[in-house]
Amino acid sequence: MGGNSFGKLFTVTTFGESHGPALGAVVDGCPAGVPLSREEIRSELARRRPGGGGASTTRSEADEPEILSGVFEGKTLGTPIAIIIRNAGARSSDYDALKDGYRPGHADWCWEAKYGLRDHRGGGRTSGRETAGRVIGGAVAKAFLVLSRISFRAWLQNAEGVADKAAALRGEGDSVGGVVVCRVEGLPPGLGEPVFGKLDAAIAGAMLSIGAVKGVEFGAGFAATDMRGSEHNDALLPAGDVWWRKDLPPGVPAASFASNHSGGVLGGLSNGMPLEFKVAFKPVPSIGREQKTIDRWGTPVPLTVRGRHDVCVCPRALVVVEAMAAIVIADLLLQNRAARV
Ligand SMILES: Cc1cc2nc3c(=O)[nH]c(=O)nc-3n(C[C@H](O)[C@H](O)[C@H](O)COP(=O)(O)O)c2cc1C
Repeated sequence: MGGNSFGKLFTVTTFGESHGPALGAVVDGCPAGVPLSREEIRSELARRRPGGGGASTTRSEADEPEILSGVFEGKTLGTPIAIIIRNAGARSSDYDALKDGYRPGHADWCWEAKYGLRDHRGGGRTSGRETAGRVIGGAVAKAFLVLSRISFRAWLQNAEGVADKAAALRGEGDSVGGVVVCRVEGLPPGLGEPVFGKLDAAIAGAMLSIGAVKGVEFGAGFAATDMRGSEHNDALLPAGDVWWRKDLPPGVPAASFASNHSGGVLGGLSNGMPLEFKVAFKPVPSIGREQKTIDRWGTPVPLTVRGRHDVCVCPRALVVVEAMAAIVIADLLLQNRAARV
């Protein structure tokens, strides 16, 4: 089975099922000499752990990272970095009812239609817990990118409104979606590989690979369809004191932009402005209300999902969005070094 590795030069392979012994990531292609501590990885994983003010699952996991390879005396070696976390808080019996029934809105039936069998305990690889491996990869990418002063910040749009709705819906056994906004600062112009490796295409693909993500928009996004060209175009200006001026090819003036409707990407290339995008998450499919489904014999049956589930994935997904963005940028930064002599 493929599809578990991401990237061309900076690659991240994630592995592990929700209720297996452990899960984690192998990061290959990270340059040698990057300062990397267990604490950095632990604190990123802590942001993904449950605890989002009534919106999160009550499954409790320590998420203690163990670095198995690729780091020596606090620095990356340039060799594959393997990091695992062990699953301790799994309660597989909660999922017994899912062995023979398919959750509406979840991957259960499609997974069986493809592979013929599945690990029903906690959803196996389709669990939100799979994103812990991405966060590990993202932590390594961030440690590399901070050396180039590139930073990532994601937040929940209308956080109060979502939290209020989530608190109310937990009692009803229901769930809610939301929009995560992400901003990447410090990108030099020119990141992205025309034409199939465009920056926005790579970010969108990365985001849509996260469970429950249903849409991505950049800058003005879908609202651009209601704008005029004269409103939407970002006027070019002479750039002030930008650090990447010295890296421009001879004869190219440094530019900045009066607005950022493009979201920091033009022609699939970063333009020196902050990269800004939004990620739409659907409501969590596992809900405590009775739903209609069929069992493995094709008989219609009612299904009430037990186990511990998020009411809204967004609070825990912030660090996952940042992680996938960091992995994309680390990969494109390395690829960009082959752009010209
Ligand atoms: C951080 C995170 C946590 C998640 N937690 C849950 C959960 O507790 N219960 C659930 O049914 N789905 C959860 N999901 C969503 C499922 O993983 C996702 O809906 C499922 O794999 C089906 O994929 P799709 O929604 O992209 O089609 C979570 C997703 C993320 C990113």
